[in-house]
Amino acid sequence: MSIVSESAADAARTALSGDTILSVKDLVVEFPRPGQPTNFRAVNGVSFDLRQGETLGLVGESGSGKSMTALSLLGIVPAPGKIIEGSINLRDRRIDDLPVNELRRVRGNDIGMVFQDPMTGLNPVRSVGSQLTESAMRHQNVSKREALEIAYHALDDVGIPAPRERLQAFPHELSGGLRQRVMIALALINHPEVIIADEATTALDATIQAQILDLFRERLSVATMILITHDMGVAAEICDRIMVMYAGRIVETGTIEEVLTSPRHPYTVGLLSAVPKFDIRRPKLVPIPGIPPTAEDIVRGCPFAPRCRFAESKCDDRPALEYTDGRLLACWNPRSATEQPQ
Ligand SMILES: Nc1ncnc2c1ncn2[C@@H]1O[C@H](COP(=O)(O)OP(=O)(O)O)[C@@H](O)[C@H]1O
Ligand SMILES: [Mg+2]
Repeated sequence: MSIVSESAADAARTALSGDTILSVKDLVVEFPRPGQPTNFRAVNGVSFDLRQGETLGLVGESGSGKSMTALSLLGIVPAPGKIIEGSINLRDRRIDDLPVNELRRVRGNDIGMVFQDPMTGLNPVRSVGSQLTESAMRHQNVSKREALEIAYHALDDVGIPAPRERLQAFPHELSGGLRQRVMIALALINHPEVIIADEATTALDATIQAQILDLFRERLSVATMILITHDMGVAAEICDRIMVMYAGRIVETGTIEEVLTSPRHPYTVGLLSAVPKFDIRRPKLVPIPGIPPTAEDIVRGCPFAPRCRFAESKCDDRPALEYTDGRLLACWNPRSATEQPQ
C-alpha cells in the first residue's frame, strides 16, 4: 500500500478536472440527544469538492448522513439539527454563514434541489403555474406575463405534455411522475449552477425513473449535479464520480469506473457484492450483515469495523480519509486494486 502525497494527488486531479464550484470542508452536523450530554453527529467531518460539469454521486445506506449533507449546502438542516463545524464555499463565496435572505437567493439562483417526495418541494394548495411564476419573479427580474412564459417553457423542458393546461393544475391532480417533473422544473427554473437531487427517482417505477434520469443526463450540459441515492444502479447510470458515505463519514471516493470495477473499502465491496457482473445498470444495494451505528453508539475506531469481515485490531483506531494508490479511502485494510467484488 503506497500513500501518494495529498498535494501530488490533488495536483493530478486538478489537472484533469474543471473549476471547483462547491467546496465543503470538515462539515459537522449534530442533533442533540434527549437526556444525553453529547450530541449525535449525523455528518462527521465531510470534505469534498464539486467541479463544474460533473455529476457526483453520494451513495450509502439509509441514515448515513447523505440528506443532512445536502441540506447543509442549502442552509436548511432541520432544527434541532445544526451545522457546528466546517465551511461551505460556492466558488469564492462562503455560504454556510449567510443571513437567511441571502441564503434564499443562493437556493434559487445558484443551487436547486429536487427531493424524493415532490410534496416536500411543492406547495399542495397552490397551482403549479403560480409556484413556478412566483419563483421566476422572485429570482429573475421579470413581469408576471414574462414569468408565465418562463413557467410554460420550464414545464415543456422537462417533458410535461400539454404544459399550458398543466400550469392550472394543483400538485395532487398530477401523477407521481409528473409531479416529480414539476419539482424538477421548479428546481431548474432559475438556471441554478448546481442541482442536488436527493433520492429524486427512488419512489418512481423503473420506466419513469429511467425517463427522469435521461432528463438529468440531458441537463448535464447546463448544470453540475450531486445525485444522492442508495441505489448504486442509479448512480452507475449517470454519475462521473462517487462518494460512499457511512455513519456520517465519507469512506471512499473515486470515479464511477474505479468504484464499480475495483471497490477498495470493504463497505463499498459490500454495497456492490450482489451486483450481477453482466448488468451494472440495475444493481440494488444489498443488506450487509449488521446495522450502521445508531445515535446511541459512540464510535471510536472505524465505524464500519463491527460489520467488517476484514477488521483487525488496528481498526480500533479511526482511519483517516487519505489517498491510497490514488484512491481516497478511509480504511486500514483496503481490498486490493485488482480484487473483484464477490
Ligand atoms: N430530525 C432529526 N432528529 C434527530 N436525528 C436526525 C434527524 N434527522 C436525521 N437525523 C439523524 O441523522 C442521520 C442521518 O440522516 P440523513 O442525512 O437523513 O441520512 P440519509 O439521507 O443518508 O438516509 C440519521 O441516521 C438520524 O440519526
Ligand atoms: Mg436521505
